[in-house]
Amino acid sequence: MGETLQTIRERRSVKSYKPDMIPEETLQKIVEAGTWAPSGMGRQSAIIVAVTNKELRDRLSRMNAKIMGTDMDPFYGAPVVLIVLADKTVPTHVYDGALVMENLMLAAQDLGIGSCWIHRAKEEFESEEGKEILKSLGIEGDYEGIGHCILGYPAKEPKKAADRKASYIYYAR
Ligand SMILES: Cc1cc2nc3c(=O)[nH]c(=O)nc-3n(C[C@H](O)[C@H](O)[C@H](O)COP(=O)(O)O)c2cc1C
Repeated sequence: MGETLQTIRERRSVKSYKPDMIPEETLQKIVEAGTWAPSGMGRQSAIIVAVTNKELRDRLSRMNAKIMGTDMDPFYGAPVVLIVLADKTVPTHVYDGALVMENLMLAAQDLGIGSCWIHRAKEEFESEEGKEILKSLGIEGDYEGIGHCILGYPAKEPKKAADRKASYIYYAR
């Protein structure tokens, strides 16, 4: 099996993290991989906000938990949160953002870092608080939250992958 196929097969969603920060160089490689995702008409509608600041990370966690209606940490203790947002004015923005998310997760796997997609970014950045956070970071424009890619060192083995459903692929030969 080629290395890319192996990375795809072996990536799992990690749902428990050690508090240790990942190296800056590794973080840079992961976010750069995100930027190489394809996008509709090559418009690169997505942006990535790499959050390593603990105060902001914890604030986002609280916002996300509130949307979910829980008081657990939806980021499972992960020290890094990569927020992917995409320009609402581009018709393919949700697809573009989802591809960035997958590139981030596969790059993390390739570099030995645990990751997981955490949802509710849409609701988070529709709120006044979310908009204010983007503004405070100098981000202007009409962005939709696509997802959070959390990163860190796994504290527990992730769950084994489910078998692939029988009806996944149809051939028309
Ligand atoms: C669109 C999307 C949203 C997700 N949202 C969450 C989430 O909010 N919280 C979470 O723990 N996992 C979330 N996940 C991860 C899934 O639970 C995980 O991908 C699924 O259980 C399959 O496991 P695997 O990624 O290890 O193959 C999400 C995944 C996707 C693709």
